[in-house]
Amino acid sequence: MNGKRTALITGANKGIGLETARQLGQQGMTVLDGERGARAVATLRGESIDARFIALDVTDAASIAEASRMIERDLGRLDVLVNNAGIILGRPKPSETRLDDVRRVFEVNVFAAIAVTNAMLPLLRRASPAARIVMVSSEIGGLSNHGDPDWTYAWFNAIAYPASKTALNMVTVQYAKELAATGIKVNAADPGYTATDLNGNRGTQTVAEGARASVRLALLDDAGPTGGFYDARSQVPW
Ligand SMILES: NC(=O)c1ccc[n+]([C@@H]2O[C@H](COP(=O)([O-])OP(=O)(O)OC[C@H]3O[C@@H](n4cnc5c(N)ncnc54)[C@H](OP(=O)(O)O)[C@@H]3O)[C@@H](O)[C@H]2O)c1
Repeated sequence: MNGKRTALITGANKGIGLETARQLGQQGMTVLDGERGARAVATLRGESIDARFIALDVTDAASIAEASRMIERDLGRLDVLVNNAGIILGRPKPSETRLDDVRRVFEVNVFAAIAVTNAMLPLLRRASPAARIVMVSSEIGGLSNHGDPDWTYAWFNAIAYPASKTALNMVTVQYAKELAATGIKVNAADPGYTATDLNGNRGTQTVAEGARASVRLALLDDAGPTGGFYDARSQVPW
């Protein structure tokens, strides 16, 4: 077994996922870039980061199973899982929302996070110290935010993306409950509004800033929280 700690980051070919891999790699971790094409690994390896490409389409059960087999064969365990892959399909008003789009968004943002987590859990359970699981959510999924007229994104009025992140928050809490006795910590991360392809690069933060919440939760020590929702500094309202 590799003595170094290993992190799998889904959707790591660009944006916040790539930067999360970079920052975890800079902390000395081996990073498995879960991507649909080996685009980012060469960049990270050029920065002396121990990055390895792992083919992973998070909506494809066979791809997830193959990824877990490869990690089992090559490493025997997994120390950190960051469920980062996510999509947004515009933000049509609720009354103009197409159900197929809601399904597609939930497929990546919610169902895939469950599928990948369950496939990786046998590997995560072997980590010592106990593994960390990060669900990359968004304050846009915070129910209480949407009731606050003074909230920065109070104008956001759509179903698919916000509801997917609300659901992901519940997924986080339920895994945290089940795994509490194992020491595995499961938390949701809010990257903050970050310039990536997801928002046409209109975000106000850099990816270096946007990755901090995930990195912090991936590196929590034993005294750290579980079952919570955090940005880079503090707790975020559900
Ligand atoms: N940017 C923000 O302001 C912001 C704010 C809050 C939360 N977030 C969350 O942060 C996470 C990362 O988003 P980002 O802003 O970095 O967006 P991004 O640059 O568009 O990156 C999204 C990543 O997800 C991957 N992905 C999508 N579908 C996938 C699939 N089926 N299998 C594997 N990978 C898949 C993409 O890969 P491909 O290139 O192959 O499609 C890409 O690597 C998302 O969960 C997003 O909801 C972002």
